[in-house]
Amino acid sequence: MSIIVANWKMNGEHEFARSYNVALKEFISSQATLAAEIVICPPAPLLYLMKGNYKLGAQNCHSKNSGAFTGEISAPILKDAGCEYVILGHSERREMGERCPSVSDKAATANAAGLKTIICVGEKDGEDFLDVVLAQLKNSIPSCATEQNTIIAYEPVWAIGTGRTATVKEIEAHHAEIKKKFNFKLLYGGSVKAANAKEILKTPYVDGLLIGGASLDVDEFKNIILSSNE
Ligand code: PGA
Repeated sequence: MSIIVANWKMNGEHEFARSYNVALKEFISSQATLAAEIVICPPAPLLYLMKGNYKLGAQNCHSKNSGAFTGEISAPILKDAGCEYVILGHSERREMGERCPSVSDKAATANAAGLKTIICVGEKDGEDFLDVVLAQLKNSIPSCATEQNTIIAYEPVWAIGTGRTATVKEIEAHHAEIKKKFNFKLLYGGSVKAANAKEILKTPYVDGLLIGGASLDVDEFKNIILSSNE
């Protein structure tokens, strides 16, 4: 079963979430079978609206369970809000100063709270894939990580939101290298859309997709889900 994750990033308001939820729920219940687990990661204030026949995730959490951390959200609060997953170490957060040890601390807290983590890694344009990504993984995955509570998302930074997707050959080669050292489910992300989802999902060593921009259009997202059935 593949995993298809929608990362809305900092997009969406109540009306958007309400109608998205209705459309997605109807679509999922109209399917006789679904070959993918669907996870929606909206901005935290919209989590309560997104209840249905799919899983919920958050886009970040704090490394502490509670306390005087104004503006932060803890893993237990997210779990209580209905999340089963949390995305950690997204390149857009790394760009703002998030570092691997912090990702690892957050992941350990999230796992202890009963959340599954989606730990994001990826090289920037011109960086050496293997050096960067293996170091990020080594330093971002906590020692408590298991195949059950941890998923890796490989997202080349140059492919995120740019319309430039890695070729399936690159994806296969890079995922194979990651899988040699890290035995976790492995998602691909970076400009995935309905037009390329099917061939990426069929690529060896790809266990699912992490989708940003294309997940904001519910019809496009439904077509991405359908491509996992083909
Ligand atoms: P994108 O984003 O699909 O818009 O490239 C992917 C991500 O950032 O997770």
